[in-house]
Amino acid sequence: MADRREFLRQAAAGAVGLKFLRKGEKAAPITFSPNGSPNVPLSPDYIEDIEGLGRGVGWPAEEGQAPSPYGDMFVMESAPGPETVINGKSYVYFGGTGYFALHDHPDVIDAGIEAFRIYGTHSATTRAGFGNNPVLLECERKLADYFGTEDAVHFVSGYFDGLIMAQALADKYDIAFIDETAHFSVRDGIAAARKPFVTFRHRDPEDLGRKLKRELKAGQRPLLMTDGIFPTFGVIAPVPEYVKVMEPYGGIIALDDSHAVGVLGKNGRGTIEHFGLAAGERLVTAGTLSKAFGGHGGFVVGSKALCARIRALGIYSGATPSPTPAVAASIKGIEIVKGHPEMRERLWKNVAAVKGGMRKLGFEMNDTPVPIVTWMMGSAEEMKKAQRALMERGVAVAYLKYVGAPAGGVLRASIFSEHTAGHIEMLLSELSALIKR
Ligand SMILES: Cc1ncc(COP(=O)(O)O)c(C=O)c1O
Repeated sequence: MADRREFLRQAAAGAVGLKFLRKGEKAAPITFSPNGSPNVPLSPDYIEDIEGLGRGVGWPAEEGQAPSPYGDMFVMESAPGPETVINGKSYVYFGGTGYFALHDHPDVIDAGIEAFRIYGTHSATTRAGFGNNPVLLECERKLADYFGTEDAVHFVSGYFDGLIMAQALADKYDIAFIDETAHFSVRDGIAAARKPFVTFRHRDPEDLGRKLKRELKAGQRPLLMTDGIFPTFGVIAPVPEYVKVMEPYGGIIALDDSHAVGVLGKNGRGTIEHFGLAAGERLVTAGTLSKAFGGHGGFVVGSKALCARIRALGIYSGATPSPTPAVAASIKGIEIVKGHPEMRERLWKNVAAVKGGMRKLGFEMNDTPVPIVTWMMGSAEEMKKAQRALMERGVAVAYLKYVGAPAGGVLRASIFSEHTAGHIEMLLSELSALIKR
């Protein structure tokens, strides 16, 4: 496209830079309120904001060039890792969220292949009938062992975390309270569970307290559902404060901890462990195996009673379980994460290095070990250009219009334990070159 050509020509000549900042100007467009939430106007309804959602957004080929066989879509042609092939070119990759880059670990691949040979694709029937197999059962044992719970249930996608928790706990609450920027899956889940729900302000225990008081009639019980780590800005839900606010009502807190499991806490058990809290009947974790663990599928960990309730749900008795090779790969991923706590140390160090470097560039950053680094640079168009320019220089970061983002979207780098100092330096120096022109 002509404007892309012109942009690259000018950028290469150093004649003009991107217009986010003037020389010497500090780049700090996102500020954070004292409770750590980003001070950005949230997009009112993501569903109506179709552009940038629901499809891979790349960019069209340059004029005069053969169009990509993938049109204007980004297409990943290798496993996601610190270096990843996209549309035929290898990038230093910060695009998303395989935090330990286990997706092509040789042991993970071998485990998947072996299971494929024995079990084929999957059971072709549901787990309420003949659909169990030793791999699924072992995966659940491994999950329970990893999280120190009585039991665990594996299911086909972390997207079902919200639905499963909302349904399994249905007779233990009257009204659900969800963070206004909770993941799509939490909103869809509570809607599909056909229970009344109320939203409260993002990461705001005081607003939650007000809403509990206002909405609950005497004797009614609340369920709080929220992400543990919010995927767009990488901020953590203030769970200890929620525990205090929910206490007088005997409420249950159910976390979609998809980004925190494997990553937060001494043993990688997620947000609850990060805060030194104890999981139990009133504080429940659900997550995904598709990110830190390099596998696939969603899960809930908890008591035998809770897991028995999940096994009575429609999704358990009415859906084919995950492909068995993916479950076998997940088991290996859990074993690797459990057996190598030094990977988590390395991840946290990498996060500190990236956030430290971003601060030097003038961006405001929190100091949590969350491996999600988000920033804004001007308008949506300018951010798309920035993403494009970084990719021209060999660095892939995400431009996201994702849940919890302001209407113009954000730029986001996901950090991996396997990024080297060189990869991190490249991200920071290319970003620096871009903003200082
Ligand atoms: C907060 C959150 N919950 C759930 C999911 C869905 O998990 P899965 O990819 O296993 O379906 C995601 C995926 O990106 C997520 O960010």
